[in-house]
Parts: sequence; structure tokens; C-alpha cells
Amino acid sequence: MSAPKILVTGGAGFIGSHVCVALIAAGLRPVVMDTLVNSDPRSLQRVARITGVEPPLVRGDVRDAVALDRAFAEHGFDAVLHLAGLKAVGQSVSDPIGYYDVNVAGSLALVRAMERAGVRTLIFSSSATVYGSTQRSPIRESAPYAAVNPYGRTKVMVERLLADLARADGRWGIACLRFFNPIGAHESGLLGELPHGPPDNLLPYVSQVAAGERCHVVVHGDDYETPDGTGVRDYVHVMDVAEGHVAALRHATTHRGLLTVNLGTGRGASVLEVISAFERASGRTVAWRVGPRRPGDAPAYWADVQHARDRLGWHARRGLDQMCADSWRWQLGNPRGFDDPDPALPAGFVSAST
Ligand code: UD1
Repeated sequence: MSAPKILVTGGAGFIGSHVCVALIAAGLRPVVMDTLVNSDPRSLQRVARITGVEPPLVRGDVRDAVALDRAFAEHGFDAVLHLAGLKAVGQSVSDPIGYYDVNVAGSLALVRAMERAGVRTLIFSSSATVYGSTQRSPIRESAPYAAVNPYGRTKVMVERLLADLARADGRWGIACLRFFNPIGAHESGLLGELPHGPPDNLLPYVSQVAAGERCHVVVHGDDYETPDGTGVRDYVHVMDVAEGHVAALRHATTHRGLLTVNLGTGRGASVLEVISAFERASGRTVAWRVGPRRPGDAPAYWADVQHARDRLGWHARRGLDQMCADSWRWQLGNPRGFDDPDPALPAGFVSAST
């Protein structure tokens, strides 16, 4: 019997490409559908360099019913991992139509196509952003929805749609994965995050300062009620997140209904702790200055991870030091992203393709 084929929407992006590595390592066959608006197809060549298998790419949009039907007919998928979506909070405020269209209408078109094809196993990339900024940490999955921006509300809407779908039709097996703050890179240094323009998120910014591409990090506020006054988040290694997808897929394949789980480490780190960890990992100084608070930021939150352990048998295995070391290896080897020639592999890392 051949290995199950999995459609990975958004599979050429930062998280999606790492998910492809984890799927292939688990003996599954990913097929990527991606518009490439925020990603680069060369990420899939890097997946091939790591695993020996290049996932086929269907260049297309999940809102395109014809493209979806064609892909389902051609490939005969067994399940779908839905990572495609827009995720910039600020943009979602200025362009709500675009965000609801891609994230909500896109998810609706996808489940319609799945229904037509009779494929009813789905893993959805959601976000801790659905909790908003007022919950007490550690946050459990039972906490109420309190998203504070259009991006977060698109995630809430899709989660609600999927909950209604699972209730209405017992043939569906669905998992919603609420990511906390995925960072890091594949340990090979071949895959990582590729922000277009100045990064909004902390880690890529810190990494570019360490590399000398930017002069300093602006710490968004140091007067929060946290141990050092700076914001605290639950940073989780992107390969742990990727392995969480494989665990969720196994669960959704064998259990019908809806499962919602946090993907985090259960530990918070402050902005200054992240900067220190990055300095240790890189051996470079990361200059920083304190600026004003960023509107809409929560002081501190981290995940309750018990549910993921109990239901998926999954927990994050990699710590902050490894997240920083892997980000730094990616940054050093690929200062211009995939425009750089393939970097040499680190000592001791054996590529499946060599
Ligand atoms: C942000 C989004 C969140 C989204 C997530 C992943 C906001 C308010 N939240 O989460 O909805 O799901 O990205 O894309 O945008 N920081 C600095 N200096 C910087 C950048 C960040 O001090 O230059 C601080 C922030 O204030 C925060 C922490 O670093 O305390 C993490 O920030 P970031 O990486 O942007 O993630 P979130 O804000 O947690």
C-alpha cells in the first residue's frame, strides 16, 4: 500500500515547509498548494535536500474551486493540512476584506472541495491570537474567544465553522492547532523564515541585528508587570510545531469529531531573555533600545500544554537556546534567503539526498 497523500496548503511558507519535512520523515507524501505571494518555491528544493523528496507544487489559491477540484482529482488526497492564510495583524486592520476573503472564504472553499471529494480529515493552523490579550496564563483551550483584531477574528470564524461542521457530520475528523510563537529554523540551516521587508516579529528582527543588517532592536515597552518589564511570550520551535501537525494528523485520522489544542512549550520568555539567548547562540552583541509599547500587545501569555500531551502525546522538545542557534545558522548561511546558493550542511548533519 502506498503512503497517504496529504494536501498542505501554504506548504511553501515558513511553517508549511517545515511541516513538509516532518510529514516526509513520518513516511507521508505531502503535495503543496501555495499562491507563493508570501513564500518561495525554492523552499521545496531545500525540503528535498533535507529529506530526499521534493513535494509536488500546485501553484494555486484555496479560494479557487476549480483548482481545488483538479488537485483533489489528480492526487487523491487522504487528508488536508490547511496552513494557507494571511497573518500580519496591522494589514488585517487596514484591509479587513482581503483578510476575511483569504482566511475565511478560503477555508470555506477548501472544506467545500473536501466535501465534494469525500476527504474529511483536516488539520487547521489556528493561533493563540484567538485568546486575545486578557486571559490568565497558562491559557487552556477552554478559555473564551477574545480576539482583538481582524486577523484574530478570521481565525475564530474558521474555528467556529469547523466546530459546526464536526457537529453536523460525524464523518469529519478535524484538529485546530493554536500556535503560540513559532520561531527557529530547521537544524540543517537550509530552511527558515524569510520576512519580506522589515520584520514585524521579534525573532527575525533580533537575528538581522545580530547579523549587522539592522542597527538595534526596539524593545516595545519595558514597564509591563513582568519580571524584567518586557513582554513575555511562549516561543516554540518551528520543528516542534511541524511535529505537532504529524501528531494531530494521526489523531484526526483515527478519531472523528473536533480536537482543539495549543502548540506551545508552556514556558514564557521575555524580550530581553530572547535577546540574551540570541547573543549566546550567535556570539554577537545584539544592541537594543527601549521604545514605547506596541498598541494591542499583551503583557504576557503562555500555553497550558497538558491537553496536547494527553490527546496527541506531543510536547515541545526544543528549548529557547536551540531555537536561537537554529535561527542563527539559517541567518548566517542564507543572508539573502533562497537567493543564496545552498549553504554547506553543519558538521554531523546527514542529508537524505546526499
Ligand atoms: C504577533 C501577532 C500575533 C501573531 C504572531 C505571529 C501582534 C499584536 N500579534 O504576535 O497575532 O499570531 O505575531 O505572527 O502583532 N517585540 C519587540 N520588538 C520588536 C518586535 C517585537 O519588543 O521589534 C516584542 C513584542 O512587543 C512582544 C514580543 O516581542 O512582546 C513578541 O512579538 P512578536 O514576535 O511580534 O509576536 P506577538 O506580538 O506575540
